[in-house]
Amino acid sequence: MKILVTGANGQLGCEIRRLAPSTGWQFDFVDIEELDITDGEAVLEYVRSLVPDVIVNGAAYTAVDKAEEDRDLAFKVNRDGSANLAVAAKANGARLVHVSTDFVFDGKKDATYFEDDPTCPLGVYGESKRAGEKAVEELSGNGVIIRTSWLYSAFGANFVKTMRRLGMEKDSIKVVNDQVGSPTWAHDLAVAILTIIPKLKNQGVEYYHYANRGEASWYDFAKAIMVESGIDCVVNPIPSSEFPTKAERPAYSYMDTSKIEQEFGLTIPPWRESLIRMLTEL
Ligand SMILES: NC(=O)c1ccc[n+]([C@@H]2O[C@H](COP(=O)([O-])OP(=O)(O)OC[C@H]3O[C@@H](n4cnc5c(N)ncnc54)[C@H](OP(=O)(O)O)[C@@H]3O)[C@@H](O)[C@H]2O)c1
Repeated sequence: MKILVTGANGQLGCEIRRLAPSTGWQFDFVDIEELDITDGEAVLEYVRSLVPDVIVNGAAYTAVDKAEEDRDLAFKVNRDGSANLAVAAKANGARLVHVSTDFVFDGKKDATYFEDDPTCPLGVYGESKRAGEKAVEELSGNGVIIRTSWLYSAFGANFVKTMRRLGMEKDSIKVVNDQVGSPTWAHDLAVAILTIIPKLKNQGVEYYHYANRGEASWYDFAKAIMVESGIDCVVNPIPSSEFPTKAERPAYSYMDTSKIEQEFGLTIPPWRESLIRMLTEL
């Protein structure tokens, strides 16, 4: 099995890289310096010469607030880049494993989100990721789109690292408690992706949701980060109205994961258990 991983220096890419030796498969890890996914010709040429069995797209424009002022680039990477990979995958008979986000939903359902629920992104990032999903759906031959949420890891910048830094600097912090979802350790998502790859048999494109089990608000998550890190910092809950951001975020984006669990026999760890495991790596 030959696997091409794009965006390989991101959180997900780094976690896949860490697991790669245990698979016995051949991996090719590329980030923007080696393969800019917005360059359609380069993508086509790269995939043609590598002939991978599977392409895992870990590349994305992920700056949610910045995207509000950077619409063109967000769409160039998240829509056009995904389209380029989908075309190249189809032309060379590779399966595409594409990663998307809970931010394709508006969070107004007030109940668990399933794969076939209507999408309605609230901001540019979510819109551009939804456009990427559609491109993959239309252009790739056999692919899967895995929506995940609130990714964190020992690699790169993320909420866990920010909270720990703030917790060490301050006696108390305020965190929003009216946005609820599922914190997800990128390591668990990487394990899931590598577990499902050899089992993929679908024709066409199939959607899945993958997030750590259990729901939490950002406030719940921040409190857990402090407690499990042994940081003595009081976390106070506030409404989103007291913490305005450029991009509006879904109030409730907890996703049902039973489809991916049942089809591939996955056991998804609860978010707090995974947080504790990740913290041992810092
Ligand atoms: N992070 C989250 O909370 C979250 C939540 C839900 C879903 N997701 C999705 O999960 C996936 C993985 O997220 P992540 O947190 O691992 O993202 P990440 O850490 O931001 O990594 C993305 C990688 O893609 C690279 N990249 C950007 N533009 C590129 C281009 N034109 N060509 C090739 N590579 C490019 C980035 O390079 P630079 O750093 O140099 O830009 C970075 O290394 C993404 O699809 C994301 O949308 C993430």
